Amino acid sequence: MSKQILVISTSPRKGGNSDMLAEELIRGAREAGNDVEKVTLYDKTIGFCKGCLICQSTQRCVIHDDADTIAQKMLNADVLVFATPIYYYGMSGQMKTMLDRANPLYSADYRFRDIYLLTAAAEEDEHTPDGAVTGLQGWIDCFEKARLAGTVFAGGVTSVGEIQGHPALKQAYEMGKQM
Ligand SMILES: Cc1cc2nc3c(=O)[nH]c(=O)nc-3n(C[C@H](O)[C@H](O)[C@H](O)COP(=O)(O)O)c2cc1C
Repeated sequence: MSKQILVISTSPRKGGNSDMLAEELIRGAREAGNDVEKVTLYDKTIGFCKGCLICQSTQRCVIHDDADTIAQKMLNADVLVFATPIYYYGMSGQMKTMLDRANPLYSADYRFRDIYLLTAAAEEDEHTPDGAVTGLQGWIDCFEKARLAGTVFAGGVTSVGEIQGHPALKQAYEMGKQM
C-alpha cells in the first residue's frame, strides 16, 4: 500500500552528504510506489521553541514560521525520515530545533508510525551517530504509536560530495524501497 512519506533534510549545507542519503532513500521509496515529500531546512526560517506549552491545548504553535508548517506536514505523514549531519556527536541544531517545534503533535492525533534516521559524519567509527540516534529516540519515546524503524550512517565523509560511491547510499536506497 502506498504511504505518505515526509523526508526532512536538516543539514545547513545544500546538497550535502546527509542530503544525498535522503535523495537515495527518496529514489527507492518512489520506485516502490510511495508518495514522498521532501523538506529542506537550510532555506527555511525556524525559530526556537519558547517553551510556553500553549500548543498542548491548541495543537498549534504560537510562532507562525516554517516550522509551524512543517509540523503540520509531520502530523499527516505515515512515515517520517530525518537526515542530519553529525555535529559534536549529536544531531544538527536545526534538527533538534525542528523536533522541539513539533511539540504541538504530542497531544494531537498524529499519523506517523515508522521513523527513520540518516546520518553523515567525518569519522568512520560506527558509534559516531549514537548521540543523534539517542536524541531522536528520546523524541520518539514521547510518541507511543511511533518507533525508530531504521538508521543509515555514512562515515568518513567531510566535504560536500565526498559521499559519492559510499556504500551507505545503497543502504539508504534499499531502505527506501522496503518502506
Ligand atoms: C559544527 C560541526 C560539528 C561537527 N561535528 C562532528 C563530529 O562530532 N563528528 C564527526 O565525525 N564529524 C563532525 N562534523 C563533520 C560533519 O559531520 C561532516 O562534514 C558531514 O559530512 C556533514 O554532513 P552534511 O554534508 O550533510 O552537512 C562536524 C561539522 C560541523 C560543521
